[in-house]
Amino acid sequence: MTLIDGKATAAAIKAQIAEEVKEIVTNGGKQPHLAAILVGHDGGSETYVKNKVLACEQCGFKSTLIRYESNVTEEELLACVDKLNRDEDVDGFIVQLPLPTHIDEQKVIMAIDYKKDVDGFHPINVGRMSIGLPCFISATPLGILTLLKHYAVQTSGKKCVVLGRSNIVGKPMAQLMMQKQYGDATVTVCHSHSAHLKEECREADIIIAAIGRPGFVTADMVKEGAVVVDVGTTRVADPSRKSGFRLSGDVDFEAVAPKCSYITPVPGGVGPMTICSLMKNTLSAGKKEFYQ
Ligand code: GUN
Repeated sequence: MTLIDGKATAAAIKAQIAEEVKEIVTNGGKQPHLAAILVGHDGGSETYVKNKVLACEQCGFKSTLIRYESNVTEEELLACVDKLNRDEDVDGFIVQLPLPTHIDEQKVIMAIDYKKDVDGFHPINVGRMSIGLPCFISATPLGILTLLKHYAVQTSGKKCVVLGRSNIVGKPMAQLMMQKQYGDATVTVCHSHSAHLKEECREADIIIAAIGRPGFVTADMVKEGAVVVDVGTTRVADPSRKSGFRLSGDVDFEAVAPKCSYITPVPGGVGPMTICSLMKNTLSAGKKEFYQ
């Protein structure tokens, strides 16, 4: 069993990005600039955004954090998006999700200029991704592809089960694993209403679990020699920790790991790669790689 080290892989990629940024700036080019909008004080979102700002520093990017209280109006938020769309210094920006329920998340995503949508959530980027055109690809699926490639995991022709159908992970992951230029695998998507979920998993060469249910994937669901990628990051109470919680993946790691050829841990697997992929997308935005 090989433990996939997302933390080390992400650090190596961020170091490469930092080298490239140094070269760009030395040659008189512009320092890439990522802006992030954070609404409210959700613990998970606070941590993600803090880590994104930190990653910008590690990559030599400029970063701007814009904060709103959770009672911000949709109008105020849309005005901020519009301002960032028009700010020539900002190469890319994200609106950290989830947003408070009185704000229409899809409306906010649609308002982002797709050329600055480094999260890859705008329908133009989602559509381009689904037909294999150059675009910003959602950071978690892109991070998983990068990780599998880094560890030379064979995906072509393999049977891949994606657990979960979210717009951020499950759907784009399934699309990418299916496409010839990325995963080139045979893909099955399972979700909360799938009738034969366990059986589907048992036949899978690769399982990508993104359902947000701690320990959902048990040893009886995993074939000997399978590759298991755990996207889950649910906070569960842990009084022994200073923070009072620990992150729990979707996979029962202790029981599943001995059966795997490769497995990602939580934390230290997919999480660091997600942030690293956002950095890749920001560099692409700075270089106007996909759009003028
Ligand atoms: N919330 C959870 N994951 C993400 C992400 O990748 N981007 C944004 N903007 N919000 C998130």
